[in-house]
Parts: sequence; C-alpha cells; structure tokens
Amino acid sequence: MERLDKILALHNVGSRKEAGALVRAGAVTVNGRAAARPEQKVDPEQDEIAVHGRPLTLRRHVYLMMNKPAGVLSAARDKNAPTVVDLLPPQLRRRGLFPAGRLDKDTEGLLLLTDDGGLAHRMLSPKSHVYKLYEARLDRPAQPGDQAAFAAGLQAGELSCLPARLSWGEDPCLVQVEVREGKFHQVKRMFHAVGKEVVALRRLRIGGLSLDPALSPGQARFLTGEEVEKIFLPQAVENPTA
Ligand code: URA
Repeated sequence: MERLDKILALHNVGSRKEAGALVRAGAVTVNGRAAARPEQKVDPEQDEIAVHGRPLTLRRHVYLMMNKPAGVLSAARDKNAPTVVDLLPPQLRRRGLFPAGRLDKDTEGLLLLTDDGGLAHRMLSPKSHVYKLYEARLDRPAQPGDQAAFAAGLQAGELSCLPARLSWGEDPCLVQVEVREGKFHQVKRMFHAVGKEVVALRRLRIGGLSLDPALSPGQARFLTGEEVEKIFLPQAVENPTA
C-alpha cells in the first residue's frame, strides 16, 4: 500500500503537493469514491484511481523511463551483477518488466522498461525510423570526414550501418550521434571504424522522448500516455533517402 499523493505524483499528475491539492479539491476518486486525504493508503495494482474522472492507468502495459547509471546491466535479472530491474523501487515494479533496447554496462542515460513486447519491437525496428540520440566523449576530436562517413552509412568491421547523423559544438571530442538501429556496441564500433574510441556514452533521447533531467542516475518513473506516443513522433530532420 502506498500514499495516494505519492502514487499520483509518480503518474505525473503533478508534484506531491499539487496532487494533494487535487485530492482536497475532491478531484480524485478511489474505486469510484471521492478521496478525502492525500495520505490515504491505496494499492496501485488493485485500486481504480481517477483524476477528474479519468482513470490513472488506461493501458494494460506499463512504461518506465530510467536514468541508467554506469555499472548496471540492462537485463531483467542476472546471477552475478545488479540489473536495471533490481534498481526499481517496489512501487515501480511489475511482473514481466524488461529493458526495451539495451545499453552497455558502462553506458548511462535514457532507458525504457516495459512489459509491452509489441512496443519494444516497434521501437527497435530500424523500419520505424525511431532515432536514438547519444552523447559521446571521444579520445580524439571528430572531423568533418567522420560526419560524411556516418551520413553515408559506414562499414564497421563486419557491421554495415545505416546512415547516422553526427554533430558537435565547440568541443569536437564531445559529439552527438543519432542512429536508428541498435546493434551490439553500435556507437562504439562506428567511432572505432573512423579511428576514435568512445570513452563515455550517454543516451539522451529516443524518438521524440528526452531523458527527464529531474531523474538522477538510478532513478525511474512512469511515462505518461503522451510520453509513450512521443517515442514514435516523426523526427524533425529525416533523411528521405535513408
Ligand atoms: N551503442 C553502444 O556502443 N553502446 C550502447 O550502450 C548503446 C549504443
């Protein structure tokens, strides 16, 4: 059992304080009855909670975003090492959760966890054109020729890569790269192919969904329905020939 205002805040209804105000204003129902107190205990798995008459969870599936820290495996479970699912607090845990689109153990940033295999498949398929944006720190400066090589779709050893976008600002060792596929060590192998090594990697965005800057490493929260849809929003810059 959890406090009602905490559950509302976890579902992005607002801050805990705002959620409490909604409860006091009579806008929140639990199993059809107006809730009176923000500290009322509810069972988020069993109780039907609604705000202004709209059920909190309309979907069968759950979707979480995590700010993955380095040193943790992108897996549901592992005998020897901590996994991203191990990091979830009890109120975010659901049966069948898995990371949709893995990050390497040393990679940080935006990771989605869900129990929705269909969505994960759709999101990861290059045909869906869902670009993943990474920030990479390189051991040596990127060069304009790398941009052209990435845009053309480079060959990284035996890995044939689809066209990717590479850019940087003042510091050519701190680059941003967008790829729409997610093969094993994809970004690291692409840079290796142009003579650079990735020394740190962080995922910032998946499709139109950005990492919530309020999440510190290791923290996670539920996505709203609008945020789930953002994953598949058409990307602003799309190469029509890709
Ligand atoms: N590319 C990589 O090399 N590693 C990741 O974790 C993600 C993309």
